[in-house]
Amino acid sequence: MLAGKRILLVIGGGIAAFKSLDLIRRLRERGAHVTPVLTRAGEQFVTPLSVSALAGSKLYRDLFDLTDEAEMGHIQLSRSADLIVVAPATADLMAKMAQGRADDLASTLLLATDTPVLVAPAMNVRMWQHAATQRNMALLRGDGIGFVGPNEGDMACGEFGPGRMAEPMEIVAAIEGQFAEGPLVGKHVLVTSGPTHEPIDPVRYIANRSSGAQGTAIAAALRDLGARVTFVTGPAVVPAPEGVDVQRVETAAQMLAAVEAALPADAAVFAAAVADWRVANAAGQKMKKDGSGKAPELEFAENPDILARVSKMAAGRPGLVVGFAAETDDVIAHATAKRLRKGCDWIVANDVSPATGIMGGAENAVTVISDKGPESWPRMGKAEVAQRLAARIAQSLGS
Ligand code: C5P
Repeated sequence: MLAGKRILLVIGGGIAAFKSLDLIRRLRERGAHVTPVLTRAGEQFVTPLSVSALAGSKLYRDLFDLTDEAEMGHIQLSRSADLIVVAPATADLMAKMAQGRADDLASTLLLATDTPVLVAPAMNVRMWQHAATQRNMALLRGDGIGFVGPNEGDMACGEFGPGRMAEPMEIVAAIEGQFAEGPLVGKHVLVTSGPTHEPIDPVRYIANRSSGAQGTAIAAALRDLGARVTFVTGPAVVPAPEGVDVQRVETAAQMLAAVEAALPADAAVFAAAVADWRVANAAGQKMKKDGSGKAPELEFAENPDILARVSKMAAGRPGLVVGFAAETDDVIAHATAKRLRKGCDWIVANDVSPATGIMGGAENAVTVISDKGPESWPRMGKAEVAQRLAARIAQSLGS
């Protein structure tokens, strides 16, 4: 898939730059041509010699290098690639991209290009979570820039949290996703998946038994048809698919924010089992028994209905909105009413009563309800349900 593809790799200044050396190797193993660009800060973490030796190509470093300008101007350099990958993308580099600044070779290339760009952020957890960085990310997404990572984990600075650069093979999968072929190439599809966790106090929460299996399979099937997929997932049991933009959330409120930030989309599939209520009086500290025998009283507040909100958006509504309805009785009647109430285009209804073994199981038996009425599919694996649904979505977006 990557054979013969030309990738311009911008290496920013972060400790994760060492992983970019492995990324170069992996890309070349797959037949890609890698042209590296190393920022000044990047040079503090990896040497120009190792980057250019691994890439087997000239390394570009300076904006005003007369030889480079004579051989290949920066505009030409930015456009001769099939894809620009920024890995690691520092907070500073993201800020420059978001503002359209062009004060060094990397930022100038990124501003001058009309080539798709994929960004792999890497930074300290606080820098990642800072409102400014989140704002920049939202701006960049809106500009059509793809993201892979960051992941959560231990950081070189000793802290823990989101900010670690995605692993080289995850970046390779995301790059392959950019070159995917299929009926959904050029389409952006949003998928929600998994349960939500609604805190009671800092250590306890209310959850549900959703494994995330069906939503994950749907995201993978859409990716395989060439879609750019944003996958907004609660804390699921099943690992997120590779080659999609994973947004991890815990609560329904966070899921809504992530969904809104991911729009616009051509289609949206809401497979998440979102908690209907959150604890309104969640405690800031761990609740303790006080010996009186008195149990705490939880008060509940209704969560936003993400599916209904997106379905009823006045402007910017995805062209196709698909909801799910997990029912235990009178499935088709309840789901038909739900489709109208929520305002979505299709509802995928299934019977999750314990006897079916569907919740948490490998199979699913669904009825897809559209304006043409219900259509029941035979019981089949969740991956097959996902593939059929993805094919239907492709058909609908193509017509
Ligand atoms: O109302 P109910 O939870 O049965 O509806 C299920 C559908 O609505 C699913 O597609 C689910 O993802 C979505 N939903 C949502 N936000 C909520 C509750 C449900 O998006 N707060």
